[in-house]
Formats: sequence, structure tokens, C-alpha cells
Amino acid sequence: MPGNCGCNTCAGASPCELNRDVCQLKELVRSQGKQLGQLVRHMKMGCKKPPKESTLKGLSPCLKCLQPDVLYHLGMDTATMDFPKVFGDVRFVCMGGTAERMERFAYKIMKELSLKLNPATTLRNMAEPGHRYALYKVGPVLCVSHGMGCPSISILLHELIKMLHHAKCQDPVFIRIGTCGGIGIEPGTVVISSEALDGMLNPYYELIVQGKVVLYSSKLDQCLANELLSLAIPCEDDFCTISGKTICTNDFYEGQTRLDGAFCDYTNQSKTAYLQSVQCQGVVNFDMESTAFAALTNRANIRSAIVSMCIVNRMEGDQILSPPECLSEWEKRPQALVARYIRKEFLKRDDDSDTEAYEEVCPSACLEGDKAI
Ligand code: URA
Repeated sequence: MPGNCGCNTCAGASPCELNRDVCQLKELVRSQGKQLGQLVRHMKMGCKKPPKESTLKGLSPCLKCLQPDVLYHLGMDTATMDFPKVFGDVRFVCMGGTAERMERFAYKIMKELSLKLNPATTLRNMAEPGHRYALYKVGPVLCVSHGMGCPSISILLHELIKMLHHAKCQDPVFIRIGTCGGIGIEPGTVVISSEALDGMLNPYYELIVQGKVVLYSSKLDQCLANELLSLAIPCEDDFCTISGKTICTNDFYEGQTRLDGAFCDYTNQSKTAYLQSVQCQGVVNFDMESTAFAALTNRANIRSAIVSMCIVNRMEGDQILSPPECLSEWEKRPQALVARYIRKEFLKRDDDSDTEAYEEVCPSACLEGDKAI
């Protein structure tokens, strides 16, 4: 006798049983499809030879003797972590001052690259055991906080560069997404640094090593800077993006000729004269990390760029008076530009199965189950 629907196949079966059978069948097809996808991916991966070495250059010959190598400030070491497995796919390292900003950027990148999180998980600060910096991994992107000033960013760069070396990473690009003090530019403007200069307007990062002054070039990658600049869309973006020279100082107050620090041995007139003179030489902003960032990435053969958001026009004042709502809205501007670049580069990849692969890698690499961080 035919069933409810009139066919002989489901003769005698109740609608409930039919529903259950359909669900079971769907589940079977879904899991077989997944297994098939995994098989294809593994076959593709099996065909690719894993790189023997990273593309980083000029690193210390002492590194190979460090067994294990302890990245103390990141709270990681090569004995307890499989660096090639966890970080081998890293292609972009984005750095900014605070942990919160970099966590927000990590979530933005996840959205931009259409990488999915299980609803019960959050991104995990992988550098939490070091109690110094915050580090989030989203697929091929590391989002890391660097604190303030050259000493802080330099310690972090030493350890990140070693991490990528141990992980055998290929051609990583480093981008600092920071804040800056503008010279004659409106707060909210995005600045792409064309050069990083020290306080004497020289393109060097100065370090005292064994009692001697050593100068390292702080030149930035012009192609990368131009590429980032080309991604600004003046008629669509609700902000200006400009390019110019950046002066890196060792101090926020006197180093940047502020009148509002605890000490000040100069006048308002000499401050204005100084700002005008550097402006005439093409300087558009101050920061406190660019020379160390440029020099250390240069030394390791890493392409790097600096994209920052101006929070004050120093021609008009010293204090940061923009309301927090403005600052948090402006924070998204350099992030939007850098996210465009990463998305463009990410989509260039020929292996279209990687997005799915990252979703599988993520839970072990960078996510924390069930609890918020
Ligand atoms: N960062 C700086 O170094 N200076 C400023 O004025 C603002 C941000």
C-alpha cells in the first residue's frame, strides 16, 4: 500500500519517522562531504613541500644553539610549542600600542577574511603567560600590542622575529597601526610614514651596544607605503589619508616640544619655530616607535609600513582634547586601510581551500573555549 505521499518507498512510515530518516541522510551527506574536503586538502598539502627555512635574513648565528629558545616576554618557548605548526602560516604581523586596540583589530580582520568563530569561543591572548604584550592570531594575521616607545617595541620585535624564524615563515609583512601627533594636519587624518627619522632628522635608529653608538637604517619600504596609500578611496572614505615623514622621539613631552609636561625649559615661540622648521622639511607627524620598528624589520629582511591616526594637531595645541567617542571612531580608520590591504593580499592566494583550513586550525591555535578573556 502506498504511504501518505502516495509513493511506495515510504509506505507504512509515519511523518515523524520520515523526518528522522531525512535528517539522518542529510547528516550522512554533510559528514561525507566534510571528509572528502579534508581528504582533498590533505592531498594538496601533501604535495606542497614545507619550507626548510624562513625568509628572514641576518639573524644571530647564536639562535641555532638555543635549545630551547625562550621568548620570555611573550611567555612562549620552542620546547613546549611547535612553532611551525602554530605560526608557520603567518603572513601579516600588525602591531599597535594597546592590547584592547589589537584585540578589536583581530576581530575586524576575522570578519574581513570571513573566518568564523564558534559562538562559544573568543580569541585568546597567546602572550598572556608573559604578562607584557597581547598577541592574537587570526588565520595568517598576528595582531600584537607593543606598548609605548622604542625599548618596548624593540624587545617585542626581537621575540616576534625569532618566533617567525623558528616557525619558518615566508615573506611576512609587518605593519604598525598606531596613533601619532600631527604637525599641521587635522586630528582624525591617517598618515602613512614615508620615512622614520630620529630627533635630529636622520633616518637612523641609534643603539648603544657594548658602550659604542651603533646606527641602523630606519628606511621604510616605499612600495608597500605606496600600495597602502593607493588603497585609500578619497571619494568614499570619510577621512583623509596622507603620506609624509615621521619623527620618532624618546619622549612624549619634551621630546615632542610640548609645553604641558612636568618640565619645560623652552618657550612657546621656540616650540612654534621648531614645529614650522620640521614641517618645512616634509615632516607630518611624531611617534615614539617608528625608527626601532623600521630598523629591526629592515635588519631581518622584512617589508614593513607604518599607518597611524593623528590624535592632535601640534600646531594648535599639546593636549589630547578630542572626545573618547571621536578617538574610538578614528581608531577604525588606519585599521580599515590595513584590513583592505590584507584582504587584497589574502584573496590573491591560489589555494582557495585555505579559508576552511584556517577554521580548523583556529581552535587549537588561537581560540579560547567557553570563557571570555
Ligand atoms: N603619539 C605621539 O607620539 N605623540 C602624540 O602627540 C600622539 C601620539
